[in-house]
Amino acid sequence: MINKTTINEVFETARLEEVIGEFVHLKKAGSNFKGLSPFVDEKTPSFMVSPVKQIWKDFSTGKGGNVISFLMEHEHYSYPEAIRYLAKKYNIEIEETEQTDEQKEQASARESMYLVSEYAKDYFHDILLNNAKGKAIGLSYFKERGFTNETIKKFSLGYALDEWTAFTNEALKNKYNIEFLEKTGLTIVKDTKQFDRFKGRVLFPIQSMSGRVLGFGGRILKTDKKAAKYLNSPESEIYHKSKILYGIYHAKQAIAKEDNCYLVEGYTDVISFNQNGIENTVASSGTALTADQIRLVSRLTNNITVLFDGDAAGIRASIRGIDLILEQGLNVKVVAFPDGEDPDSFAKSVSNEELKSYLNDNSQDFIQFKVSLLLKDAKNDPVKKAGLIREIVQSIAKIPNAIQREVYVQECASIMQISEKVLFGELAQVRNKNERGSDDKNYQKKLEVVKQSEVSKTIKINQLNILERHIIEILLLYGNKETEFTDFIEEENEKGEFIHVKHKFTNVVSKEIYLHLQDDEIEFTNDTFKVIYYEIVHQLNQDENISLDKFINHENPNISMAVSDLLMNDERYLLSDWESKNIYVKTKEKTIPKLVMDAVFNLRRVLIEQNIAEITKQIADSKNRKEDLELVKNYTSLKKLIYDKLARVV
Ligand code: CTP
Ligand code: MN
Repeated sequence: MINKTTINEVFETARLEEVIGEFVHLKKAGSNFKGLSPFVDEKTPSFMVSPVKQIWKDFSTGKGGNVISFLMEHEHYSYPEAIRYLAKKYNIEIEETEQTDEQKEQASARESMYLVSEYAKDYFHDILLNNAKGKAIGLSYFKERGFTNETIKKFSLGYALDEWTAFTNEALKNKYNIEFLEKTGLTIVKDTKQFDRFKGRVLFPIQSMSGRVLGFGGRILKTDKKAAKYLNSPESEIYHKSKILYGIYHAKQAIAKEDNCYLVEGYTDVISFNQNGIENTVASSGTALTADQIRLVSRLTNNITVLFDGDAAGIRASIRGIDLILEQGLNVKVVAFPDGEDPDSFAKSVSNEELKSYLNDNSQDFIQFKVSLLLKDAKNDPVKKAGLIREIVQSIAKIPNAIQREVYVQECASIMQISEKVLFGELAQVRNKNERGSDDKNYQKKLEVVKQSEVSKTIKINQLNILERHIIEILLLYGNKETEFTDFIEEENEKGEFIHVKHKFTNVVSKEIYLHLQDDEIEFTNDTFKVIYYEIVHQLNQDENISLDKFINHENPNISMAVSDLLMNDERYLLSDWESKNIYVKTKEKTIPKLVMDAVFNLRRVLIEQNIAEITKQIADSKNRKEDLELVKNYTSLKKLIYDKLARVV
């Protein structure tokens, strides 16, 4: 583990504009920099960097954060990888926290395995390009398959000579340890004998997301019925077949940029797609797709397009994969290739434009795909059709998001010409079964209720979310400011009438907000905002000012992201020409008290309305009807009071 001092030093030294400047062409814009978004293709700049606050915001994708989150988003580094990158750039020595001997040994064993794999990749690549046999056998094979020199270089393709110990001997001569040659599976050790695992095969190095070589896939060249076409590295401490996708290293930027990932089966499919200009392609390497692999993609996009060969086996395998993708909450499309073609052969037979338009024209939503596939069997047979409906609902039931499920139900109903109600009924049954493992007789009725309340709950949560966000925004931007507030207090005059008397007082913005929210014992519903709010309250209690830096470089990435997002939104107008006039800023400052009161009262109003709705809903079968009615009455008058206050704060 990198220790805290190093991390702090990295944060203190790194200049966001310098780091981003290496990837994005930045131009000065007032106190900020702006540039074209590195995440999408665009013509007008929507990407902003604030050197003062050390935060960035990409308005076209909504992404934003600090220096670390930029490297994580753009280079797809993990947190420690981003720290290491910056430490290297700024010549900061990395101090690691104390590790036990066992940890050290493990770490260095893994490191040694990475090193020997990297060496092997270079060695096999060199043999392919420079050795006479390598050229005659390996290189000519790849050439025959239509791979260009550039492609061969990009994927570091290689060849292992058809000799028992050519590689192992060379590696040992170069001081690589037999222990790690064996652990990575590059060398097979049997008693006193050692020999090369991949002898006589062309090699496809398998790289991690950050480009480290984890293992190899080796293809046989002879047609030998007894030997497997592909031989892969065995599972090891660095290579877990089920956790990696072939091609992810070369595809990651394109996947994020295109916001879509093409999923194919084989090494050669990935390579041919790349050569034909479609870089956002990865392969599951012939095994059934796993949840870990999908999660790898979901760091880059929520959209996966599954490509498969026209044969029946390919279709069956991809249906299982689709359900798994849905289960992970991603969107799935599918493209089928003509009979007898796979992505590799097809990509080679067409131009880049033709390939692109084939993919676009033939990509089907998974509902359309599954329906059309299964409808062939069912035709007009009602029993089969019922089975088909169940099949499709099984898939829909796996989608975690309720609203998305609803959209799919509607689509499915319209394609299959059946009522949504029937489908929702079916869906409820499946979900009940999945969740509790039991049938529920009232499922249909229950579902209608669930459906309704889930939807309206989401809307309410969104409304609260916006209001909570607004309060946090005010706290961060103006929390430390002292300003003059006005309140109206009900007083009795000489004539015995109740009138509203204007009171002016000064207070620090954050304290004023705190007092109001505390009054109603308001809790934030959004977890991130809740934490930010508590930390602000904590800072207030210590009599400290609210510190933006603490939030921007917060160890919880959700918080640093949410905060920089809020701060940057405030600067958004700087992207246009208004900055020179500077009008907006001034008006905003002047109206701080109104902003504060609006935000607080609106939040209270929504919460009260929510309470009223809640009680009214249950009142019919309530045992304490009288008390409930009283409560509603009180809430309603409180609501009126708040409406009055809202109307008065001008
Ligand atoms: N595969 C494997 N072991 C095998 C066969 C296949 O690991 N014995 C994996 C490989 O990752 C391969 C993928 O499954 O890339 C798809 O298999 P296949 O379609 O048979 O191979 P292709 O990649 O199409 O290879 P080629 O075009 O060279 O036949
Ligand atoms: Mn193939």
